Amino acid sequence: MRINSPKLNIMYKACMKASKSLIRDFGEIENLQVSSKGPGDFVSSADKRTEKIIINELLKAYPDYGILSEEAGHINEKNKNNRWIVDPIDGTSNFLNGIPQFSISIGYEENKEIKSGLIYDPIKNELFFAESGNGAFLNNSRIRVSKKRKLRDSIIGSGGPKSNSKIKEKIYSEYVHISKHIDGPIRKFGSASLDLANVSCGRLDGFWQRELSYWDIAAGIVIIKEAGGFVNLLNSEETMANKNDLIASNSLIHKELTDLITKKNIEKY
Ligand code: IPD
Ligand code: CA
Ligand code: CA
Repeated sequence: MRINSPKLNIMYKACMKASKSLIRDFGEIENLQVSSKGPGDFVSSADKRTEKIIINELLKAYPDYGILSEEAGHINEKNKNNRWIVDPIDGTSNFLNGIPQFSISIGYEENKEIKSGLIYDPIKNELFFAESGNGAFLNNSRIRVSKKRKLRDSIIGSGGPKSNSKIKEKIYSEYVHISKHIDGPIRKFGSASLDLANVSCGRLDGFWQRELSYWDIAAGIVIIKEAGGFVNLLNSEETMANKNDLIASNSLIHKELTDLITKKNIEKY
């Protein structure tokens, strides 16, 4: 792995240390699936264990940097200029069900702008990473978004709605609407960070999802941008802890996809 940036190095170290324990924990899931108690409690402690390892490593290197992490919330909240954004397991319900599609996602933000991001799929041993201005990489190779120009021919991913979403109907009808405009069925893989990683390396041509949390997308945003793609948030210029409505693509199909999502009211479906 050729990582020449001090920040990415720290993120990489934290992630690799945490992934060892995560892989061990994933190995336990199969046994727990058939136990009467089920894997629920175990998964939530695996989540916390992974998070703890990541946070400890990040704090060891930069004790006064802020951290926003899904389970632990804010750490060093006063530091708003340097902040790590952590999702220890993205794709928890996949993890819980023994489905090998989940990741560790770590972003680094400086003065509210995401500067570096790393998404690691421990099962496929795929490390996606990028730093502003230096391109995006998958393991040792430079990656770029796809070159598909027509939405109809594109492979598009999505996700949600969450069980507690108040806009489920809207999300379902949007899904139907988009489905009618593309030939292939929409993919829903259940890990938003890996969906973004997949856009960045051209496996998906585009992705959209409503009500995402910041830790789901922070790392992916910079990786896609550095791979030549385009990401925007529909509901706000500034990212929020949750409820970010995001569209990401190879940039060539971005307008077509965005128009379908934002101008949907002009058409009844
Ligand atoms: C979830 C995953 C999923 C997305 C959900 C997220 P979690 O994150 O990214 O793909 O559809 O909205 O909450 O809970 O597994 O970290
Ligand atoms: Ca997540
Ligand atoms: Ca999570």
